[in-house]
Amino acid sequence: MTTLEIKDLSKAFGGLQAVHHFSCTAVSGQIHALIGPNGAGKSTIFNLICGVIKPDSGQVLLDGEDLVGLPPHKITARGIARTFQNVRLFKNMSVRDNIVVALHATRNQGIIPAIASAGRDSSSMRELHNKADAVLEIVGLPHRAEALAKNLPYGEQKRVELARALGCPAKALLLDEPTTGMNPTESVEMMQTIHAVKDRGIAILLVEHNMRVVMDISDVVTVMSFGEVICAGTPQHVCQDEKVIEAYLGEKR
Ligand SMILES: Nc1ncnc2c1ncn2[C@@H]1O[C@H](COP(=O)(O)OP(=O)(O)O)[C@@H](O)[C@H]1O
Ligand SMILES: [Mg+2]
Repeated sequence: MTTLEIKDLSKAFGGLQAVHHFSCTAVSGQIHALIGPNGAGKSTIFNLICGVIKPDSGQVLLDGEDLVGLPPHKITARGIARTFQNVRLFKNMSVRDNIVVALHATRNQGIIPAIASAGRDSSSMRELHNKADAVLEIVGLPHRAEALAKNLPYGEQKRVELARALGCPAKALLLDEPTTGMNPTESVEMMQTIHAVKDRGIAILLVEHNMRVVMDISDVVTVMSFGEVICAGTPQHVCQDEKVIEAYLGEKR
């Protein structure tokens, strides 16, 4: 059982209060969606959790231990996995090798030693292959292990990215707009994949623009606007909330 508790997090960029006293909790076996208009502070929250930027105040507690101040690779090693909005695969490497490199990188703290040492030790290499195949199974792509990453359709590349993020001993997974740019079929497959990850007991924090995806898949939704939480609860609860409707209508205008 994992609990990722974000407590009273604040971050200003110069005069701009990007995140203001933000709190939310993601637990194992739940999908917690983080939504809000553009510029609300969602990606900043992810960067704060991962240690890419440091908060001005507040805590990020993973199973009670504060991660604030740790460098990003240590936060990954503690079990926080993330994906990015854009695809970041090695296009000319096989799907399996993409994951093997990531596994190596989390072990050796950096991608350069991972590439330099890949293939040197055959027994540990076999172990990494097996681990890579295990995460490919979770994302429903075991038959793609040998394919070159660049030859996969976009939706599958995004799922390989997710598999790669899971290569670290993930307790919590942060997904930033995982269905952006996908067609409806790819979105459904991505949602099934996210469900499969959740069923492994991983706590999921999901930033997503597509409200259909949010409504279908989330157990809990936190809505933010201008860095602050304006509403939190079940998908049904938040979509009827006046402040939420106002924030979204405001964006359209
Ligand atoms: N590194 C940064 N430096 C200055 N301002 C930033 C930085 N990162 C984000 N911001 C600003 O903080 C606010 C929140 O941005 P962001 O977290 O990317 O929003 P969202 O992901 O919800 O669209 C925006 O006004 C954005 O311009
Ligand atoms: Mg963003």
